[in-house]
Amino acid sequence: MIGGLAASALPLRSGRMRVDPLVTGERINSHLTALSEFGKNPQGGVSRVAYSDFDRAGRTAVMDWMRAAKLEPTIDFAGNIIARRPGTDPSLKPILFGSHIDSVPEGGNYDGDVGSLAAIEVAQTFAEHSVTTRHPLEIVVWQNEEGGLYGSRAVSGQLLPSELKNVSSSGKTIEQGIAFIGGDVSKLDQVKRKKGDIAGYFELHIEQGGNLDTGKIDIGVVEGIVGIKQWEVTVTGFQNHAGTTAMDQRHDALLSTARFVEMVNRVVRSIPGRQVGTVGRIQAFPGAPNVIPGKVICTLELRDLDDKKVETMYAKILKEATAIGAQNGTQFAYVELHANVAAPSDPRMRKIIADSAAGLGLSSRGMPSGAGHDAQAMAQLGPMGMIFIPSIGGISHSPKEFSRPKDIVNGANVLLQAVLRADRALS
Ligand code: GLV
Ligand code: MN
Ligand code: MN
Repeated sequence: MIGGLAASALPLRSGRMRVDPLVTGERINSHLTALSEFGKNPQGGVSRVAYSDFDRAGRTAVMDWMRAAKLEPTIDFAGNIIARRPGTDPSLKPILFGSHIDSVPEGGNYDGDVGSLAAIEVAQTFAEHSVTTRHPLEIVVWQNEEGGLYGSRAVSGQLLPSELKNVSSSGKTIEQGIAFIGGDVSKLDQVKRKKGDIAGYFELHIEQGGNLDTGKIDIGVVEGIVGIKQWEVTVTGFQNHAGTTAMDQRHDALLSTARFVEMVNRVVRSIPGRQVGTVGRIQAFPGAPNVIPGKVICTLELRDLDDKKVETMYAKILKEATAIGAQNGTQFAYVELHANVAAPSDPRMRKIIADSAAGLGLSSRGMPSGAGHDAQAMAQLGPMGMIFIPSIGGISHSPKEFSRPKDIVNGANVLLQAVLRADRALS
């Protein structure tokens, strides 16, 4: 047994104790190791971006593990992997739980993987102990979380048709990518669910920040997930000879972009609060040492728990960028790539998670999530709860991302408990 946990026991009305099963720690951690082979990088971690060959191969492995857990995985029209475990009360809506297995370029082995494999582990534990729930359960591996919650937002009805033309990190458009992993965008309407179509949603995830690790707390109970907006920014100047064009005659798109990067950082820091802003990708055209860049394409990302604050920062950035452009005759244009709406978790789900942790003898603390998660799309459909486990050193989206095997097992057991408690508590 990893994690030093005893089975969670509750007194029943009959006076006997109900003992819920625990997950098999060795199995979940060996699945994690096996998944880390798909897209493995020499420096550690993986590049398993959505719609890559590695992503598709990893999904095949995950579906095999689902079958071993007595599940029958299906790929929905949006490309999500979903397996349903029937409940005893056909009038009840399903409880969903899962995460994602796609990674950022040069990412780690824990972001998304832990929650996906823990969800399968919970289902396998239920199968091995003949646990039957009242609600049907749906174990989900969402597609392309890292690109902008594409799979989960298709289900929540937040995915706009125009976004299907966005180019993903794999180089494929979202439309091509969905076809590549077995979906069908012409039928996307059929995957949409509406508010009330789910009884609840849980997601286990690594914290990706350092609060739990620093505070030596076992479990984070997520109070809310930040809203995220991303734009593609095109800066247009004038391409010219780098040797013959005087410094005061230049319309250098890259110089304006450099000033833009500095300005975004300054504007975001000028307001009190935990909001963040990032320019994470820049490409200069034509991209030669002896040519003044005539065009730059970069990204802008803004995040906060309050969507209105994101809008306020964006308005300030637009104004200042126009002034930057005026300094050297360059122009800024913005195309919104996607928006993840900020989402509070449900107080009942928070209590269920905190009680589950306490029942297992684990410490817990409430906290916000500065990272985006599929859970925020699911919050549109029903009560949502998220469970965090410590990220050592608070490092994530990096090959150095690490969570201890015992913390992963703790998280999986809290997920198992939370699903059972929600099954009893939710209608
Ligand atoms: C997902 O990990 C995100 O927060 O970008
Ligand atoms: Mn994630
Ligand atoms: Mn991530």
